[in-house]
Amino acid sequence: MLTDTFGRMHTYLRISLTERCNLRCLYCMPEEGVDLTPNEDLMTTDEIMRLAELFARAGVRKVRLTGGEPTLRRDLVDLTAGIRSLPGVDAVGLTTNGLTLSRKLAALQAAGLNLLNISVDTLRPDRFESMTRRRGHERVMAAIHHAVSLGYDPVKVNVVVMRGVNDDELCDFVELTRDAPLNVRFIEYMPFDGNVWSDSKMVPYAEMMAAVQRHYPQGLERCPDPKGEVAKNFRVPGFRGSVSFITSMTKAFCADCNRLRLMADGNLKVCLFGANEVSLRDAMREGATQDDLHAIISAAVDRKKAAHAGMFEIAKTRNRAMIKIGG
Ligand code: GTP
Ligand code: 5AD
Ligand code: SF4
Repeated sequence: MLTDTFGRMHTYLRISLTERCNLRCLYCMPEEGVDLTPNEDLMTTDEIMRLAELFARAGVRKVRLTGGEPTLRRDLVDLTAGIRSLPGVDAVGLTTNGLTLSRKLAALQAAGLNLLNISVDTLRPDRFESMTRRRGHERVMAAIHHAVSLGYDPVKVNVVVMRGVNDDELCDFVELTRDAPLNVRFIEYMPFDGNVWSDSKMVPYAEMMAAVQRHYPQGLERCPDPKGEVAKNFRVPGFRGSVSFITSMTKAFCADCNRLRLMADGNLKVCLFGANEVSLRDAMREGATQDDLHAIISAAVDRKKAAHAGMFEIAKTRNRAMIKIGG
């Protein structure tokens, strides 16, 4: 088990499959894009599988595939099937912008994909274009409906809330949960390199909550928060779906962190906001055995801090652009 010095057990691995994306979301990367790692320096399918197997042996039970946009990677279905069949792994998830998901969804489901999170920050097509600097809103909405029709329950809908950009749509999003098995998750805007974060653009959890409460006189009912998940969960009484808040900035949940991140270039990150990274790709290419890799990963986990440094501090610290981390 990969347990850190604070007793946190790391059972959840996020693997970023690519740095490329077919959108250009404001909060994720600068308009000019980011420098992409050359292809030969990205992990191969075999390297990803080798590491996934090692992590599974070390106690990882849930793997989430991210990006960039993971559906752009050609071996996505094979990786999903391979990872889901590893002993010990009982959940494989995907976080996607949904743009090209529909084409692959049935195959992904057959491969064992059982958790699906789709990002969409607005319900207005014109606003989608300004937030993502690309078109395709109707395809994303269609992918959400497709996922529901295939039985994903819930389909998690990730909404990064930015003041003056989409914060007037909270109740429209809550309405999506009236009749559908959707879990709409409002996410506090977080700082990463190149995304021009400021606290004034971030809408705190308490404020989002108050806005929703004002609109629904029956209030929001608290639901259980499954262990190892980052959201605070609620439901409008009588609604089929649920509404959650991911409060990384104003109410950090580091004490219960169970996550590790493997990025497309093979670097391991033990904290979303930690600059410390170690290259598992280099170690593999230099001939490391599974035991050597395990030792490198354990040492990195041992260096994990108790919590991130607070929103003002992390806003000043260098990190990757979000697109190169994968959330
Ligand atoms: P579940 O498996 O459904 O719990 O998904 P998830 O919330 O782990 O993953 P997703 O990719 O949907 O991420 C949703 C939001 O949570 C994104 O804004 C992520 O950046 C953020 N997030 C995910 N993991 C962490 C974490 O360990 N720390 C912090 N601060 N934020 C995280
Ligand atoms: N703040 C909060 N969430 C973000 N995401 C991307 N960038 C940010 C940010 N700056 C979300 C995406 C996606 C998930 C992987 O992370 O919307 O749902
Ligand atoms: Fe692409 Fe996802 Fe970043 Fe948007 S949030 S630009 S969809 S990687």
